[in-house]
Amino acid sequence: MSENVPGVRTAADGTTSGRISDEARRRRTFAVISHPDAGKSTLTEALVLHARIITEAGAIHGKAGRRSTVSDWMEMEKARGISITSTALQFPYSTGGQDCVINLLDTPGHADFSEDTYRVLTAVDCAVMLIDAAKGLEPQTLKLFQVCKHRGIPIITVINKWDRPGRHALELMDEINERIGLKTTPLTWPVGIAGDFKGVLDRRTGTFIRFTRTAGGATAAPEEHISPDRAHDAAGDDWDTAVEESELLEADGADYDEETFLGGISTPVLFTSAALNFGVNQLLDVLVQLAPPPSGQPDVDGNRRSPESPFSAFVFKVQAGMDSSHRDRIAYARVVSGTFERGDVLTHAATGKPFVTKYAQSVFGQNRSTLDSAWPGDVIGLANANVLRPGDTLFRDVAVRYPPIPSFSPEHFSVARGKDPSKHKQFRKGIEQLEQEGVVQVLRSDRRGDQSPVLAAVGPMQFEVASHRMAAELSAPISLEPLPYQVARAVHPDDADFVNRQPSAEVLTRSDGVMLALFSTRWRLEGFQRDHPKIRLSSLVAAGDA
Ligand code: G4P
Repeated sequence: MSENVPGVRTAADGTTSGRISDEARRRRTFAVISHPDAGKSTLTEALVLHARIITEAGAIHGKAGRRSTVSDWMEMEKARGISITSTALQFPYSTGGQDCVINLLDTPGHADFSEDTYRVLTAVDCAVMLIDAAKGLEPQTLKLFQVCKHRGIPIITVINKWDRPGRHALELMDEINERIGLKTTPLTWPVGIAGDFKGVLDRRTGTFIRFTRTAGGATAAPEEHISPDRAHDAAGDDWDTAVEESELLEADGADYDEETFLGGISTPVLFTSAALNFGVNQLLDVLVQLAPPPSGQPDVDGNRRSPESPFSAFVFKVQAGMDSSHRDRIAYARVVSGTFERGDVLTHAATGKPFVTKYAQSVFGQNRSTLDSAWPGDVIGLANANVLRPGDTLFRDVAVRYPPIPSFSPEHFSVARGKDPSKHKQFRKGIEQLEQEGVVQVLRSDRRGDQSPVLAAVGPMQFEVASHRMAAELSAPISLEPLPYQVARAVHPDDADFVNRQPSAEVLTRSDGVMLALFSTRWRLEGFQRDHPKIRLSSLVAAGDA
């Protein structure tokens, strides 16, 4: 690594900006978006396996009872066999003479909505859209795709479970092209139909990459690169079909194009069987070769802070209760610029106060290790970070503030009441904490009083998380009474009283001061807007169009 690059400005801490550029260029920070069961946990294991961090798949993720797990740390997660919370995995990977550092941000793997998933997507430079070959596009994939599209995040598509009977590859391409308007540009093409996976045609080199099954898929699957002239002998008619289909794609202009990929208009496609570790190293290679490295970020005024600027990061997630033996709260921050050393004193942009980072950690599943340094694209886990909230900026030397992370339009509302009136203090503190972490939004009104705030969430599972946390961790069990509202709009304060007098509507104030008008149904809202066009209602960011 170039410590002293001639002509390069020396940063305030003595590190050359050339070194920062080098480190930033090595980083690939991405998340996998998928519908539950598409194979995200399996793929994560396989990626790490291929990167040779662990020797046997299964140490990181997994369903309850299936394998020993590291990330399933909440009791509730164990009971449900799902991973509710995010973890950040970092591992080195080298290919074709490039030494990279991969940061894989895990998104919660349940069907329910959670703002956490969206927040994680604010911290990545690329997303892998994982699709089950038999199911095609599923609702959660579509919604997450919308978020990526809105944020301009380039997407690599992976069609998984090709070892099982599934749909035709061309049909899946059509579905992606037509339903989400993303032009598919397959980099590999399957040899053998779904259920009879022999390998892939590498469309960039024309070679046949033959896969061989290993018992249980527990180790990296051997693959053999066979030249096109020998491929027919190796795979028979399946090879010819793959070549014909690949030619059809070429005629259709479905070849990889960097500009449209980075612009979120086209998506390179790969075919895998994560369970058999087939095609997984191609994905790693493609991430290294095609996914964009960190490139800085615009601040609140729209000025881009480059990776070489002095240190800055934004908090994209706050997590408490990770471990019952450490009652702490970890704030995850994505480094945007500069270099970070543990112990650095940063400034918390929201308060202007210093923030000491002696507890910086990297979190690998449940295993935490002390983090000594970080570069653009990396994720820092800051323990005991009680003042940090999602969206907060931290910086050093030169002040910066990044735009807040949008909070989504809630669709579920419940009144929370403490079960034990003597624990009023814990109740208030607990609700405040859940709100700060972004688990739920908290709405209040004079009418309902402080004892019974309304919790609002994008998906109902957030209520279960809130309820569990209040009882198990904050010692203030709550009861939740669902309210019959489904839609929320921001209402102008001068119009709030009028809306509040309507039947089946109610106005409450969110902690950030925004007044929310809740309506029982979309249909009622539309009727109200038709009857009262002068009332100023505005949309909040909806889950589907973030
Ligand atoms: P998720 O995190 O996206 O929810 O999915 P997960 O990896 O847990 O995978 C869901 C199921 O799909 C698992 O089966 C897993 O083994 C299976 N799976 C994942 N990738 C592939 C693949 O490429 N091919 C095939 N055939 N199956 C795949 P399960 O029955 O829930 O668990 P298990 O007992 O098989 O481990």
